[in-house]
Amino acid sequence: MSLKDIDKSNIPRHVAVIMDGNGRWAKKRGLRRENGHREGRKSVRKIVECCAELGVKNLTLYAFSTENWNRPKLEVDFLMQLLFLSLRDELKTLNKNNIRFETIGNLSRMPKKIGNYLEKVKEETKDNSKLTLTLALSYGSRSEIVNVVRELSDKVKNNIISSKNIDETVINDHLYTRNLPDVDLLIRTSGEKRISNFLLWQIAYSELYFTKKLWPDFRKKDLYKAIISYQSRERRFGKTSEQIK
Ligand code: IPE
Ligand code: IPE
Ligand code: MG
Repeated sequence: MSLKDIDKSNIPRHVAVIMDGNGRWAKKRGLRRENGHREGRKSVRKIVECCAELGVKNLTLYAFSTENWNRPKLEVDFLMQLLFLSLRDELKTLNKNNIRFETIGNLSRMPKKIGNYLEKVKEETKDNSKLTLTLALSYGSRSEIVNVVRELSDKVKNNIISSKNIDETVINDHLYTRNLPDVDLLIRTSGEKRISNFLLWQIAYSELYFTKKLWPDFRKKDLYKAIISYQSRERRFGKTSEQIK
C-alpha cells in the first residue's frame, strides 16, 4: 500500500491521533522512557508533513492528557521541556510550510513559560492556511464537557441564552474544538483499543483505526494505510447503504 493507492478526492478533513507507545518503544530497546518520547517527535514531524502533502486540512494530536499529570514528576517535567524545545525548533518550519498551530486543553495547568510560548506560536502562525495542527495538551474530554456545562449554565442564569435553545450546535460551539470540523478518522497507535478520554463528543461518527505500531515507529506509509482503510469504509451515518449511493 502506498501513496498511489490513495483516492485524492476522498481525503479525511480531520484526522486525530492518539500517539501511544513511546514508553514501550524505549523499554524494548533497554532505554529510558524519555528516549521514546524524544523519538516520537520524529514521527510527529513526518506525520504533519504527510498530512500537508495529502491535503488533510486538520490534524489533532493527543500529546498530554489530564490523566498524564499523574505520571512521575520527572517524566512530566521531561515532557514539558521536550514540548518547549520542539515548539522553539519548529516555529520557523510551521511558518515556512503554512501550518497554523492551535491547542486544546486546560493550558492554565501548564508551566507558565510553556503556556506563554504556546500563545506566541499560535499568534505567529494564525494566518497560515494549509493545515491546522492542533495539539491536545492537558486535555481531557470529560473536563472539556464539564466546562461547557458550566459556561452554558452561566449564560442561562444571565439570560444570554435560553435553555430551550441549547442544541448540538450550541454545545459544539462551546467545546475547545469549536473551530474544527468533526473528526473523520481517529488513529491510535501501540495496539491499545481505547479512547483514553480523547474527544468523546467529537468522535461520535469518526472512523476508528487501531494499529500495533508504536508511535516512534509510525511513519508516512502507516498513515497511508490508515487513510486507505478509511477510504474503504462506507460512512452511512445511520442511513441505509442504498441511500448513500
Ligand atoms: C504516549 O506514549 C505519550 C504520552 C502519553 C505522553 P506513552 O508514554 O503512553 O507510552 P507507553 O504507553 O507507556 O508505551
Ligand atoms: C493517552 O495515552 C494519552 C496520550 C497519548 C497523550 P496514555 O498512555 O496516557 O493512555 P492510557 O493510560 O494507556 O489509557
Ligand atoms: Mg501509553
